[in-house]
Amino acid sequence: MPKIVGISGSLRRGSFNAALLRAASELMPPGSELKIETIEGIPLYNADVESAEGIPQRATEIKKSIIESDGLLLSTPEYNNSIPGVFKNAVDWLSRPSSDIKAVFGGKPVAIMGASPGGFGTVLSQNAWLPVLRTLGTTPWFGGRMMVSRAESVFDESGRLKDETIRKQLQQFLNGFVGFVGS
Ligand SMILES: Cc1cc2nc3c(=O)[nH]c(=O)nc-3n(C[C@H](O)[C@H](O)[C@H](O)COP(=O)(O)O)c2cc1C
Repeated sequence: MPKIVGISGSLRRGSFNAALLRAASELMPPGSELKIETIEGIPLYNADVESAEGIPQRATEIKKSIIESDGLLLSTPEYNNSIPGVFKNAVDWLSRPSSDIKAVFGGKPVAIMGASPGGFGTVLSQNAWLPVLRTLGTTPWFGGRMMVSRAESVFDESGRLKDETIRKQLQQFLNGFVGFVGS
């Protein structure tokens, strides 16, 4: 039974990317599971804090979840045509200490998706993740793309996915990724 960990890169209460991840958890292929982890509570990276206090508890918990999973699904917003700082900061903590990178990220199948109110559906942010995923030694999945543009018309006020075309696309995307993870 493939177990996927999903992380949204937004702290916003009404986040489209968190909503996309929640929709994904309802559309996972039978026999698979999506565990959603939050980056809420991860402080700004500071090497002095790391030396004095070690890795923040939330980051340690997410690392453990990833180690126990078969794959990782990132739901990324796009800020200024790149990765939002809060999301990159969280992944930077997850990559500490560097001696754990292999256990946490090494060979881990990773899929990226994203949602934006704009017209390009986070394509540049998704591209910006690629060197990070390469550096961490992951195995990115390139078998599908999930870029949600005009997000305010895709989700209703309570953050539920209301667009049937996107729902089908998301289901296909998840089938492809889980198939890749399980193969
Ligand atoms: C600093 C900043 C920069 C942004 N830059 C982009 C951008 O380059 N491309 C884009 O599509 N949206 C951009 N946006 C809009 C975000 O896509 C929008 O705020 C979105 O709702 C964030 O994701 P969330 O709903 O998951 O929080 C930007 C927003 C902020 C706050």
